[in-house]
Amino acid sequence: MIDTHCHILPNLDDGSKSLQESLAMFDSAQKDGIEAIIATPHINPGRFDNHIDKIRKSTELLSEYISQTGHSFPLKFAAEIRLCPELFNWIECGVVPWLSYDGSKYHLLLELSTVHYPHGAFAICQRLIEQNIIPVIAHPERYRYWQNNPLDMLKFEKLGCEFQITAGSLLGRFREDAKQFALQMVRENKVSWVASDAHNLTSRPVRLSDAYECVTEISGTRRANTLFIDRPAEIYSCCPGFIPTKVDVTHTTQEVVTSEI
Ligand SMILES: [Fe+2]
Repeated sequence: MIDTHCHILPNLDDGSKSLQESLAMFDSAQKDGIEAIIATPHINPGRFDNHIDKIRKSTELLSEYISQTGHSFPLKFAAEIRLCPELFNWIECGVVPWLSYDGSKYHLLLELSTVHYPHGAFAICQRLIEQNIIPVIAHPERYRYWQNNPLDMLKFEKLGCEFQITAGSLLGRFREDAKQFALQMVRENKVSWVASDAHNLTSRPVRLSDAYECVTEISGTRRANTLFIDRPAEIYSCCPGFIPTKVDVTHTTQEVVTSEI
């Protein structure tokens, strides 16, 4: 299995709080059968002011420490970016940590508000898709406005967005309504792939195996392999990792960036 969403880099956000915790998270991931990780710290202006250079350096440092422990573990980086007006400026400046780029289209891991409906999000996603950037919406099962109105989420699906759910949601590690919505999404084939969204060793661990079993029971081994192995492997192989790439942006985005998010 490959984990494409993990807050394993130390001291960048609300994930790992130390290098020791990061190394322990790696150990835990390996024991769970996870073979590669994309580190995805938050980028959330005013709360987690991370930047691609800072994330790259942290990834390099952690990789080095892992090597020193005698292990070799495939580690790349991207970011979980809060949908915000600054996003288009970052794209224009070429400083966005892409989740993947396969030569024709980009994937971007985006986080919305859990509680408040993100007005303006649809227009932003539309503009991203026009630029061959696929929004991968992180943990949609935890957004209360979509739990209450799944039809609204379908508008984003029809637009071309992808949905990455959190493994722990399937096991009830969040609210019961998040669990039920995640299970419903699996049954209805609305899930693009599953990731741990791990933050620590205890309440939000780097763990996928038990969620894999859960999906196997619901949808069979083939589908579970798609959601935990095949799609994450495609994303991992196309994750630029240490190499920033730049999108050729030809449109200004004034009407979008002024929208309420
Ligand atoms: Fe996350």
